[in-house]
Amino acid sequence: MTLFKACLLSCISTDKPYKVTIDDVDILLAKTLDDKIWAFDAMCSHADKSMENGRWDPANGHITCPFHKAVFDVPKGGAHLKPPAFSPIKTYAVVVKNEDSGNFVFIEMD
Ligand code: FES
Repeated sequence: MTLFKACLLSCISTDKPYKVTIDDVDILLAKTLDDKIWAFDAMCSHADKSMENGRWDPANGHITCPFHKAVFDVPKGGAHLKPPAFSPIKTYAVVVKNEDSGNFVFIEMD
């Protein structure tokens, strides 16, 4: 497991997902109302399209794909809740570290 620096903590909001690319993998970061930070694959498991402009629900951590409206439960391991997706999306552990230049979010990846 390796920690990758993703972005400044201030880039992440409850409003919409923030996209980073690490090792050619597009990852979305977003915050829930309880101030927890979540990281998950940007690409929908239905047709491999980006959910960067999907609807993020900060109350429950659900992301709705903007293309065909599949829904994933990010806090529950990216479980698929609504078709047309029939498989989950990958989620990642997140760590926040305070460095001299600010608070940064790191993502644990294989
Ligand atoms: S690409 Fe996401 S629901 Fe079809």
